[in-house]
Amino acid sequence: MCGIIGFTGTGDARGIILDGLKRLEYRGYDSAGIAVQNGNEINMVKAQGKVDNLISIAEKNDKLIGTCGIGHTRWATHGVPNDVNAHPHLSEDGKFALVHNGIIENQLEIKERLIKKGMTFKSDTDTEVMVQLLSYNYDGDIKKAILKTMSEIVGSFGIGVLCADNPGIVYTAKVASPIVIGLGVGENYFGSDITAFINHTKNVIDLDDNELAEVSKDKVTIYNYKGEEVKKSIRKVTWDIAAAEKSGYEHFMLKEIMEQPAAIKATIEPRIKDDKIVFDELNIDIKKFDRVLITACGSAYYAGCVGKNVIEKICRLHTSAEVASELRYSDPMIDEKTLVIAVSQSGETADTIAAMKEAKSKGAVVLAIVNVVGSTIAKLADYAIYTWAGPEIAVATTKGYTTQIAVFYMFAIWAAKQLGKIDDKKYVEYIQDIKRLPERAQRTLDLNTKVQKLADKYFHNKSIFFIGRYFDYAVCLEGSLKLKEISYIHSEAYAAGELKHGTIALIEEGRLVVAVCCYEPLLDKIISNIQQVKARGAEVLALAMEDNKKIFKEADDVLLVPKTDDIFMPIIEIIPLQLFAYYVAKNNKCDIDKPKNLAKSVTVE
Ligand code: F6R
Repeated sequence: MCGIIGFTGTGDARGIILDGLKRLEYRGYDSAGIAVQNGNEINMVKAQGKVDNLISIAEKNDKLIGTCGIGHTRWATHGVPNDVNAHPHLSEDGKFALVHNGIIENQLEIKERLIKKGMTFKSDTDTEVMVQLLSYNYDGDIKKAILKTMSEIVGSFGIGVLCADNPGIVYTAKVASPIVIGLGVGENYFGSDITAFINHTKNVIDLDDNELAEVSKDKVTIYNYKGEEVKKSIRKVTWDIAAAEKSGYEHFMLKEIMEQPAAIKATIEPRIKDDKIVFDELNIDIKKFDRVLITACGSAYYAGCVGKNVIEKICRLHTSAEVASELRYSDPMIDEKTLVIAVSQSGETADTIAAMKEAKSKGAVVLAIVNVVGSTIAKLADYAIYTWAGPEIAVATTKGYTTQIAVFYMFAIWAAKQLGKIDDKKYVEYIQDIKRLPERAQRTLDLNTKVQKLADKYFHNKSIFFIGRYFDYAVCLEGSLKLKEISYIHSEAYAAGELKHGTIALIEEGRLVVAVCCYEPLLDKIISNIQQVKARGAEVLALAMEDNKKIFKEADDVLLVPKTDDIFMPIIEIIPLQLFAYYVAKNNKCDIDKPKNLAKSVTVE
């Protein structure tokens, strides 16, 4: 939520920062701003709306000349998205410019205190409170002032700071909001994520909570909250610029859908050695747990719903999936015999982090399934299994979700073997199935043109239902979320057997019902449900396995996907639903990669 970039070097700070903001735009896109330092002068431009609005103004502004600066693209938390509330914010004395991700919880208290000291405020943001506090705390020693300000703030922040007295130096600090420093030659960067500067350097340092970095063109010095210098290791990023670019696709979402076979392969392959599942990162004895609790938000939670079914089915270990924003406040019944699995693409989701902390405080062991290396969730967990999906830029997750499911499959099979719940024959069969998943995902993508035609037929619908049973129901939840978040069409996912308990009242002539019929043991049941909605006038688009002949008699349209063992169907069957959402949104002329009101990486509650 919100993107930050900072740069110092010898090049044109404006061009580098604006380019970085374009890459970061997926993190927030209601307003943006840039501040460039030239000697002791700080010049700033801000604009409501997308980064392109800022670019068109900033490029014409001759004052934005300099070799050092900061930029920000915003997802509003405090104050409506307008030019005034956009970042950077300047202190009243003009000495400091600051960009900020996160939320300052005690901002009202601080603001009142500063108003009493005679300070005035222009915006409704908590960020302006922080920059004013910084200027109030400043007595000529910037490092001291930032550390003091950090100690007075309650909440989360990743910040970038310019100080008029210190030309050529950018400062950055964080608590519970990510900051990564990029090390160049004769120039250095920082960002809320690596995409901000991946075209310039792959050598990075992950800033930890309560650390402050002083970044000049030739040197990066990092301090802890006591002001002592700390030594940090440098990490080499394994993906390159192409992964963060559209590479000829119209949208990141379509590119990321198409990347799924490769992403699943990258997640699976390193963990299968001599036809055995090996988790080098997982040194735990699964036998010591009497239950598993999966927690996450949004699509990651829906991946967890699939994970719950798989773990229970093949490990016979009691497993539940709970939304993190609920779990954190529910005084959950968790103890040291509970294995909590937190799932997250970004690794920065505030509610998931809070749920993990709650679980840890009750003695649980926490395992994270996470995509972003070095993220807060990866670090907070006792164990982390990375999904190797690469950077995900589209706000609606696709390859993030399927790689999470791939990890659940491997984890469940690994655990079932440890627990003696599957025999060697079944273990070998499962491993062969897992190895075939990338190829099956690739074959499923062949449905692209057919799905596009179906989207052409159905995109005018005002409300679309998704029904399925058991594994298929878990996938319906994700299919429905994909559709509504990017096309703004009302949609609900229903356990097919639940329809008749109320929701069937909404089925009427022409209503589209997408029926997911891939869980073979319950095929006849879902067919009855199809007949029930058809009898009330619904049109049915069915998703079924490739050898399913019966379904053609029941549904108006059919999409057939490659067949595999029942438990592995979810990772396959979601792919046409992602494509369907994509093409419906495209036909409705929606901004697919940046849906309204949303942003990638939800770092606020
Ligand atoms: C939907 C989507 C969100 C995320 C959710 C959790 O397409 O992307 O629902 O899944 O915000 O995010 P992460 O996985 O980053 O914790």
